[in-house]
Amino acid sequence: MTTTVEIPSVGGFAEPSQTPLALLLLGRQADPNSERGVECPGDLPPASDPDLVERARAAKAALGDRVFILGHHYQRDEVIEFADVTGDSFKLARDAAARPEAEFIVFCGVHFMAESADILTGDTQRVILPDLAAGCSMADMATAEQVAECWDVLAEAGIADVTVPVAYMNSSADIKAFTGKHGGTICTSSNAKRALEWAYEQGQKVLFLPDQHLGRNTAVRDLGLSLDDCVLYNPHKPNGGLTVEQLRNAKMILWRGHCSVHGRFTLDSVNEVRERIPGVNVLVHPECRHEVVAAADQVGSTEYIIKALDAAEPGSKWAVGTELNLVRRVAKAHPDKEIVFLDKAVCFCSTMNRIDLPHLVWTLESLVEGRVPNVITVDPETEKYAKAALDRMLALP
Ligand code: 13P
Ligand code: SF4
Repeated sequence: MTTTVEIPSVGGFAEPSQTPLALLLLGRQADPNSERGVECPGDLPPASDPDLVERARAAKAALGDRVFILGHHYQRDEVIEFADVTGDSFKLARDAAARPEAEFIVFCGVHFMAESADILTGDTQRVILPDLAAGCSMADMATAEQVAECWDVLAEAGIADVTVPVAYMNSSADIKAFTGKHGGTICTSSNAKRALEWAYEQGQKVLFLPDQHLGRNTAVRDLGLSLDDCVLYNPHKPNGGLTVEQLRNAKMILWRGHCSVHGRFTLDSVNEVRERIPGVNVLVHPECRHEVVAAADQVGSTEYIIKALDAAEPGSKWAVGTELNLVRRVAKAHPDKEIVFLDKAVCFCSTMNRIDLPHLVWTLESLVEGRVPNVITVDPETEKYAKAALDRMLALP
């Protein structure tokens, strides 16, 4: 248990309360009349308030350099408008420490990103997540207990000392700390290839956590491993559902986790869009399933997708498999190109979407009034090892 979420009382004084993961807060301190999940002490403005934009502007101006707002590309337009910096997970991890003079880092993203920002920023800076229910279902698919048990299974198979853990940024601080403690690195979707190359210089096998798809896609597409080199470790089965022989033969041990948004794109989505739009380029995120990635024309992180679409020829046609807020925003910015969403049935990341303008206004106005809400704090022991793993990632060539 490593993350302290300070939930301020209505009177405004923080009462630290322990929770392993933000999503578990759903149902605790919940507002049964709304789907907001976690109560916001004081007044959460209604979404219909016509003055929200003006209130956000005024509060941000009043805070000046005391506040630094980071916005992940999957955030709503209404939130992105107020971000000082936007980016994918890697860029935001690098930029989090860019304003050491800012007292408050308001992280418009999800819980694991706010934890990483807390690890990477100064001790006196406070990282705030505007809605504590903004977790990540993928990050929740690997708990510290499960990963420790997996390591014991690898030790019993006699392979733990030749295995290097590589954890995707989309994981809890506990998992990052485990990775740091065992000589591994963090990666994001934009540097997974370099992270895996580094890991195979350190050992013979990789334990990739928690996104099986990013691990498999990177191993096979970028490193030339075969699908047979990869095995899938299921934390809900004894010994991960694998035999000792399977573990010993594997080069890549993939954790059975996935993104609930990207995992929903299918090969049918790709085939259908190619039939519907002749000449379309299919561009997808590496969190998509292997068969989707294999059928796509281009694959890359969120930042890669934005750059590819910025650089595309006018008149070119694109079907994009990533989060809907981002695809809509890029399509709007390029009316001279035909940019569509890859699948009609897939929608927004619901937890990213929890951060909305009312929560941002509430956060900024609370800070102006001297209350510091929703502070995300990683305990020093976890921070030490998680930082070691994050620093290894930031130092990758
Ligand atoms: P990137 O920001 O690395 O593209 O990852 C996408 C994602 O799912 C973030 O939650
Ligand atoms: Fe998690 Fe997927 Fe949402 Fe990213 S897009 S926060 S990986 S559920």
